[in-house]
Amino acid sequence: MIELKDIDMTFGIGTPDENHVLNGLSLKVNRGDFITIIGSNGAGKSTLFNVISGKYSPTSGRVIFQEGDVTSQPEYRRARYIGRIFQDPLLGTAGNMSLEDNMVITQKKGFKGLKISLNHQLREKFRKELVQLDMNLENRLSDNVGTLSGGQRQALTLLMTVLSQPEILLLDEHTAALDPKNAAKVLELTCRFIEKYSLTAMMVTHNMQQAIDYGNRLLMLDNGQVIFDVSGEEKKNLTVDLLVKKFHEIRKSDFLSDEALLS
Ligand SMILES: Nc1ncnc2c1ncn2[C@@H]1O[C@H](COP(=O)(O)OP(=O)(O)OP(=O)(O)O)[C@@H](O)[C@H]1O
Ligand SMILES: [Mg+2]
Repeated sequence: MIELKDIDMTFGIGTPDENHVLNGLSLKVNRGDFITIIGSNGAGKSTLFNVISGKYSPTSGRVIFQEGDVTSQPEYRRARYIGRIFQDPLLGTAGNMSLEDNMVITQKKGFKGLKISLNHQLREKFRKELVQLDMNLENRLSDNVGTLSGGQRQALTLLMTVLSQPEILLLDEHTAALDPKNAAKVLELTCRFIEKYSLTAMMVTHNMQQAIDYGNRLLMLDNGQVIFDVSGEEKKNLTVDLLVKKFHEIRKSDFLSDEALLS
């Protein structure tokens, strides 16, 4: 589905701030994978997503999507098949527009590429979809999105992203800014949608237990490299203690506290 081949990403080349963030990173994401990603601050997790989504062109290496080389394809073109959700609940929706006007964007263009316009049928469809969130948003179609709480807004972003039928969903600590109750709710919805729509997904989290509990595959990133890639039974048998041990084993150092991996 998506393959990264020997990706290097260096910022500030030739300056005193030169920073090698991704170092020969190679990764094959299979269709239907739900991959959780952990790694300490600055390990390169968001940069990895930026390279996949086309925000950044890698310094070297190739990004392959369904056997086609998309390394130089711009972000707006990749947005047609890559859905991305950020930590900030304000980022995925337009606050000064109504829920229904936001949701229209998720509809594929109609006949001859004409923009879809709102009608009764579409409103009913949105209402039905919103019921799944269990946040009473189905009764607020004409309210501005800016009036929603952070949790409601992130749940709406999630729903809209899923409805736009991405080939791959990138979740970058998308519940980290929410209070525990809303974070749990959005995470539960995420898993439900991934299963319902058989999505391929990658989810960055700083919560190691979450990384173990969710998905079929777990990656640990360190210093711009995948240092641990585990799936199936082996993943199921992981514990937080085992993960921390693994981290130290692979890194062959213990100067980093366990909290650093979690933080
Ligand atoms: N546009 C940029 N210009 C310069 N440096 C950058 C840029 N984007 C990221 N970096 C640097 O790349 C390194 C990795 O950043 P990245 O955001 O990928 O880390 P991360 O693993 O997502 O960390 P966190 O857990 O804190 O979100 C950091 O040192 C960061 O400062
Ligand atoms: Mg990040």
